[in-house]
Amino acid sequence: MNIFPSPTWLIGCGNMTGALVDGWRSATADFAPVTVVRPSGTPVEGVRTVTSAGQAGPPPRLVVLGFKPQQLGEVAPQLAPYLSAKTIVLSLLAGANAATLRRHFPGAATIVRAMPNLAVAVRRGVTALYSEDAGDTAKAEVSRLFEHLGFGLWTLDEARFGAVGAVAGSGPAYVARFIDALAKGGVARGLSPDTAQAIAVETVYGTGWLAASTRESMDDLARRVASPKGTTEAGLAVLDQDGRLDSLVMEVIDAAAARGTQLGSEVAGSDGLLH
Ligand SMILES: NC(=O)c1ccc[n+]([C@@H]2O[C@H](COP(=O)([O-])OP(=O)(O)OC[C@H]3O[C@@H](n4cnc5c(N)ncnc54)[C@H](OP(=O)(O)O)[C@@H]3O)[C@@H](O)[C@H]2O)c1
Repeated sequence: MNIFPSPTWLIGCGNMTGALVDGWRSATADFAPVTVVRPSGTPVEGVRTVTSAGQAGPPPRLVVLGFKPQQLGEVAPQLAPYLSAKTIVLSLLAGANAATLRRHFPGAATIVRAMPNLAVAVRRGVTALYSEDAGDTAKAEVSRLFEHLGFGLWTLDEARFGAVGAVAGSGPAYVARFIDALAKGGVARGLSPDTAQAIAVETVYGTGWLAASTRESMDDLARRVASPKGTTEAGLAVLDQDGRLDSLVMEVIDAAAARGTQLGSEVAGSDGLLH
């Protein structure tokens, strides 16, 4: 399947870009137009890998930024000379906003931000997309990459892009913690850790599947489990007491958003361009 603009460069291939590659691979994408650029040169199965942009070949139509946001100031000047006026810069960098990216890549055709989550590896990801300047062709090229990896949506503004990222980008980590807590409950009641984890994972998986299939409200779903005066209702009373789960999750999302803002100003200021 041809989904990659030619040529496509992936700058960095760690957790997130690696998850994208896994998803594209299981969607049987043809990696012929793709080159991974990473300093370690660690091979990526089925994808040409080089250690610097200078070795990657003709200027890319698409370049995916998959390094850490804090490295933008260091990597951008090395990369920018190899891009052309036709290059789409697709950034995965949390906190680096479109204006900051544009300052780093003034000659690129367009700047697109993407915030995928780890579940793209199994093609059940959620990806927020945002651009201030992408035309229909560039948007179609980028959409084609993500439509095979789960649920993708273009947001109208950068605030909503951040909101999707806050919930979905970090979400798998929060859900992993909840699964772990559920499993610990099973261990405390005599299950082996492996069995407890398998049961907790399958419960969350099945509930997500059910919710996605029926599209009912979460209140209705919970009500279908909790019969009046029954065991689940007793458990929910604890979870719901003074809205503590809602406040805890709100605090979690606020903390991540605050770090995102901080990261954004660190990234914007790291090259002195803002000040
Ligand atoms: N992890 C997530 O769930 C997630 C979700 C959404 C967005 N993101 C974003 O994705 C980006 C990558 O995160 P990650 O978790 O994948 O990080 P990671 O696992 O630490 O991977 C970082 C990658 O950057 C590469 N790199 C380091 N220095 C470089 C340089 N000078 N030039 C080119 N590449 C360089 C590394 O190359 P080597 O492999 O050769 O060392 C590595 O492949 C971040 O900007 C993050 O905000 C992550």
